[in-house]
Amino acid sequence: MKSMHRVCLSGVLLALVVAFGLTGCSELKTDLPAPSTGELQVHPDGWTTPASANFHGMEIRSQGWDMKRCQTCHGSRYDGGIAQTSCLTCHTNAAGPENCSTCHGTVNPAPPRDLSRNTARTARAVGAHQLHLLGGAISRNAPCTECHAVPSSVSSPGHIDAAGVVTPADILFARSYLPQPTPAPSYDPQTLKCSNTYCHGNFRNGNNFAPVWNDVSGTQAACGTCHGDVTKPTLAERALPKTTAQGGTHPVYDFATTPCSRCHEEVVDASMKIINTNKHINGKISIGTGEFEF
Ligand code: HEC
Ligand code: HEC
Ligand code: HEC
Ligand code: HEC
Ligand code: HEC
Ligand code: HEC
Repeated sequence: MKSMHRVCLSGVLLALVVAFGLTGCSELKTDLPAPSTGELQVHPDGWTTPASANFHGMEIRSQGWDMKRCQTCHGSRYDGGIAQTSCLTCHTNAAGPENCSTCHGTVNPAPPRDLSRNTARTARAVGAHQLHLLGGAISRNAPCTECHAVPSSVSSPGHIDAAGVVTPADILFARSYLPQPTPAPSYDPQTLKCSNTYCHGNFRNGNNFAPVWNDVSGTQAACGTCHGDVTKPTLAERALPKTTAQGGTHPVYDFATTPCSRCHEEVVDASMKIINTNKHINGKISIGTGEFEF
């Protein structure tokens, strides 16, 4: 498809085009038609073709994701401006191009897709996002704020750190769960491991497990990883945290006669299924119908 756009320009737009062209489009000088025609190619060929090297998205990222330049002609709300050409015809979500899913995300603003268009969970920026945000199998879902400072708009301070830099993202654990474990949780951008998080077992009788963000083996959320012992034969033994017999403080009792649900009745059933995802990994120990802080 040929995407050479031509337009009749007013004097003020012409001035802006020349200014923009000098920084944004090296083809412009040679493409300039005779001034008397008043016609000019504002954007290069391929500007609306995602596969093209000249695609407008690629240009925006190469300029540090700055869209203020676009607003000078396309309007502060991207709805036309002096260019009389709206971004909103294609960017139909709320806030148009500034929508939180324009540059990263699909089902929600978190990857996939990431800033580099990756969708595989093995990609570091995709990782276990959706397992935390939508997984919900053994606990409630974690919001973005649990791991990031969430910007209220694209231009919020701290959001886009540096021109052209896409990874690693800033990880800032909110630690909103009641127990505030020490050492504090951290993320290692070299090994992609989260360490010392309360959720993965940094609590009294837990294992302080360090999961790898982009591991896809499916073994990192099994019973026994965060608390207990994954090598044990029965589910109950696997999940049982360190007891007094192992130097911990969990009561020792008779497995044969007593299921976990005898004491943790609102969290597990007799077959060890998590029955209330709001009470497992919520910062409190559920015993009987009560909840206790660590
Ligand atoms: C003709 C349709 C169309 C118009 C008009 C349009 N865009 Fe886009 N834009 C797209 C498509 C399609 C994509 C996504 C391409 C992809 O995901 O590979 C995109 C992607 C983007 C991205 C994401 C860049 C990235 O690499 O992640 C930004 C930012 C953007 N557009 C800004 C704008 C702005 C600002 C305007 C108006 C000045 C605008 N767009 C007008 C079709 C359009
Ligand atoms: C100097 C003014 C000017 C600036 C700055 C400018 N544009 Fe445009 N843009 C226009 C004009 C005029 C048109 C309509 C003529 C055309 O399509 O070439 C247009 C057309 C477009 C189109 C095609 C729209 C369609 O429906 O086919 C897209 C996409 C676009 N601009 C995106 C951008 C983006 C993204 C930026 C910022 C990186 C930007 N523009 C900066 C003036 C400008
Ligand atoms: C124009 C593209 C673009 C848009 C639109 C955008 N982001 Fe981002 N976002 C980025 C880039 C680039 C990064 C990586 C920044 C870095 O750390 O250098 C990022 C990173 C993030 C992060 C990870 C934490 C961080 O700061 O590194 C969160 C969370 C985030 N964005 C949320 C949002 C929300 C919420 C919105 C909507 C209000 C939004 N983004 C809109 C480009 C965008
Ligand atoms: C459980 C913790 C966690 C939660 C919850 C979480 N993130 Fe992330 N996020 C990460 C990690 C870890 C990375 C990867 C950092 C790296 O590249 O090493 C990341 C990276 C990102 C990136 C960078 C993408 C790129 O291409 O570099 C964005 C954007 C982002 N997250 C947005 C979000 C948004 C939006 C939400 C909520 C909808 C969210 N995240 C929820 C942990 C989390
Ligand atoms: C006889 C009652 C009883 C039974 C049965 C029981 N627990 Fe507990 N559990 C407790 C008490 C009391 C605590 C708080 C004690 C402490 O933290 O020192 C607790 C705490 C926990 C904790 C929180 C972390 C900790 O240890 O401090 C986990 C995890 C846990 N139990 C798992 C299990 C699992 C899994 C089973 C079944 C294999 C089980 N419990 C069976 C009484 C019981
Ligand atoms: C991702 C880490 C993680 C995994 C995996 C995990 N747990 Fe837990 N579990 C915790 C944390 C953290 C607590 C501490 C109490 C709380 O916050 O609910 C806990 C507490 C418990 C308790 C005590 C009752 C309570 O207060 O919640 C039981 C019983 C329990 N887990 C059973 C299981 C079983 C059964 C499995 C396997 C299906 C399992 N857990 C897998 C993190 C985990």
